[in-house]
Amino acid sequence: MSGAALTGWGAALPDKVVTNDDLAAYLDTSDQWIRERTGIRERHIGGTTTELAVDAARAALARAGLQPADIDLVVLSTTTPDQMVPGNSAEISARLGTAGGAMDVNAACAGFVYALVAAHGLLGRGIEKALVIGSDTLSRITDWDDRSTAVLFGDAAGAVVMEHTGGADQLLGWDLGVDGTARRFLYCDHGSTLYMEGREVFRRAVRAVVSSCEKTLQRAGVDGSQVALCVPHQANIRIIEAANERLGIPMDRTAIALDRTGNTSSASVPLALAEAADEGRVADGDLVLLCGFGAGMTWSSAVLRWGK
Ligand code: UT7
Repeated sequence: MSGAALTGWGAALPDKVVTNDDLAAYLDTSDQWIRERTGIRERHIGGTTTELAVDAARAALARAGLQPADIDLVVLSTTTPDQMVPGNSAEISARLGTAGGAMDVNAACAGFVYALVAAHGLLGRGIEKALVIGSDTLSRITDWDDRSTAVLFGDAAGAVVMEHTGGADQLLGWDLGVDGTARRFLYCDHGSTLYMEGREVFRRAVRAVVSSCEKTLQRAGVDGSQVALCVPHQANIRIIEAANERLGIPMDRTAIALDRTGNTSSASVPLALAEAADEGRVADGDLVLLCGFGAGMTWSSAVLRWGK
């Protein structure tokens, strides 16, 4: 089978910024605690999952030089759909005017790489151009009076275009996993707000990210020292530092957005990737490692060779 390439990227953030001091004004917390324990300085709050997804998707389509009608598959990763039924991707497809099918993927904060791998599997098998979106509005399921979670999350979307090409395949290796026995550490029941045992999630996240990335790098036949850009899920700078150290990937080769966005779940990987690509931090031929983890507990990773 001929290959697939990532040809466009984009991101969207709501206008409203909530700083750590804004939270410390009514919660028993401080800017210093939040920065030292998480790396987060501020987050953007507002909009709907649909609105943010549409904005990010339009940016990714423009970057790829495509029209919505050129797209024959939309895969939306979200854990906060605007409606329970239908899938949120239906409204996004209608607003954009894409052709072909549309589906939602919910693998929590690991979801974007799940969506990317799912779309990739269909390219060249009836699908030529796929739009893969990560969009979440966690602010709507956050308890703003619970300091242990309120300081962590934000709203955002990120999107990429993946196209079937005649050339080499850009996706060199991937790994998806879940441990459903760990659901109790991070969940949200219908009509409720997020519950999280932060310390336990932290511990498991580092372990899951390291072992998933090791599998992916091995499947791709490369090692951490060859990765030009690592784009991890943006939950906590300490998780990223701990995982990177074990993988042998320096922080200056890592995309960080969480200081300005907080944890934006499905959006965090495509948003950080889009920012890094816009800043020229990846060149054709570079290896890019994406990885995520989240409620489930789920994890995911993928290695791409950048460029057509
Ligand atoms: O997207 C996937 C999901 N989520 C994550 O990746 C989150 C993973 N976990 C984490 O990032 C960290 O565990 C947190 C940032 C949530 C917490 O950091 P920690 O270093 O693990 O702190 P902790 O939960 O062990 O709490 C330490 C102390 C506690 O006080 P005591 O018991 O030592 O008196 C907490 O009550 O910090 C207290 N604390 C706070 N203090 C000020 C918890 N939240 C806050 C807060 N401000 N916002």
